[in-house]
Amino acid sequence: MSGCPLHSTHSPSSSPPVAVSTDDELAFLAEAHHGHILEERLALCRSALLAQQPAPLTCSELTWAGRIAWRNHARCIGRLYWRSLTVRDHRHLDSADEIAASLREHLEFAQADGNVRPVLTVYAPPNRPGGLAPRIWNHQLCAYAGYRHRDGTFLGDPKNIALTEQALALGWQPPSTPGRFDLLPWIVAGRDGSPQLIPLPAGLVREVRLRHPQFAWFEKLELRWYAVPVITDMRLHAAGTDYPAAPFNGWYMGTEIGARNLADTDRYNLLPVIAEKLGLDQRSPRSLWKDRALLELNAAVLHSYETDGVKLVDHHTASAEFMKFCEREKSAGREVSARWDWIVPPLSPATTTVFHTPMREFPTTPDFHAQPPVWV
Ligand code: ARG
Repeated sequence: MSGCPLHSTHSPSSSPPVAVSTDDELAFLAEAHHGHILEERLALCRSALLAQQPAPLTCSELTWAGRIAWRNHARCIGRLYWRSLTVRDHRHLDSADEIAASLREHLEFAQADGNVRPVLTVYAPPNRPGGLAPRIWNHQLCAYAGYRHRDGTFLGDPKNIALTEQALALGWQPPSTPGRFDLLPWIVAGRDGSPQLIPLPAGLVREVRLRHPQFAWFEKLELRWYAVPVITDMRLHAAGTDYPAAPFNGWYMGTEIGARNLADTDRYNLLPVIAEKLGLDQRSPRSLWKDRALLELNAAVLHSYETDGVKLVDHHTASAEFMKFCEREKSAGREVSARWDWIVPPLSPATTTVFHTPMREFPTTPDFHAQPPVWV
């Protein structure tokens, strides 16, 4: 699942709110039951929703809900593989410790020694509107700390400054010499809603040290990124029910790392550093120093993941796969909801077919939605 969402700096707004009927919410069950919605399953779910209770989905219905939510997600270019999603039904877990153990399993199973597997784990929904439910405070299972210094400068990933501050407030001890790539602990709340700091066991998170296929100096920049993006802060909406903790992952598309995380000026901002090493003239934009630096950074990402045997897709292949997904959806009689500004890759966009493809976003269910950070 490269994607979901791919471009990390867009503001987290949910899909446009629309009135959806209970029947629309439950329509996906037809797929779960091979074309027929079983009347008794429908009736049970309808009456639960009417009583403002979560729909009592079976494990296999939940699996379909997760896969269709991925298939529906307008911001994801990697949807061709939606059927391959492994769904883990962990709605029975209560405590933060149990959930943390389940998250460690999720990550290990997803990393799969480099052969990244798309996985979704679903924790309990609140059992009444506004009720408590498990929640993961992190944006992703793997992320680097961002430290703000008093003089306004910062170290690490600026995207994670707020979460880093939450972790510190809960007693997290960063390394004695803080660095640019310090893995953050998890903050997990069980069904009681109270946040618990969960330290990461050493060696759990697989990372890739970046080097370039031609430039030996690149490795000396000591850049790295983690293998798998596991999104932990979106809610799954399925069968009229919200699941606030439903972490999922696919594999990376190279440009997410090379053209955004490491390149954006409000992230690692590395283009000036790389341009300097390349000996490019940064005085005029017309030297295309940004473009050249960007290209070499992305070449390094693709090369390093490939040599380390960690699955990651390049943006040309991802674009072609998305077009194939659209064709298959068309033959299945379904329109694809898609956001052009999220689907089109940020590197050499017009060389990919998706750039030249008109797209339209419309509300879908099941789907994944952004939700505000717990501490806001
Ligand atoms: N863009 C985010 C990041 O760079 C990850 C979003 C999900 N990406 C994916 N390939 N499933 O960390």
